[in-house]
Amino acid sequence: MLELTINNHPIEVAEDATILDAARQLGIQIPTMCHLNGTEHFTSCMICLVKDRRNGRLMPSCSMPASEGMDIVTDDAE
Ligand code: FES
Repeated sequence: MLELTINNHPIEVAEDATILDAARQLGIQIPTMCHLNGTEHFTSCMICLVKDRRNGRLMPSCSMPASEGMDIVTDDAE
């Protein structure tokens, strides 16, 4: 299991979870267009971008694996 934070809410997720999976477990809505559960990641629309506060990096939540200690924000001004 991995521990990370999304919008200041801590969560523990399985090793193979994406950031989108973790957000959905918390009930946090992240819009998606090219992502469809059960299919290969296509990662083209980038509507699902989120930011890791630790380094300011933007990443597609639908295909980015969750990792230990992430501090994700889904809805800031950026
Ligand atoms: S939903 Fe399209 S890149 Fe994530």
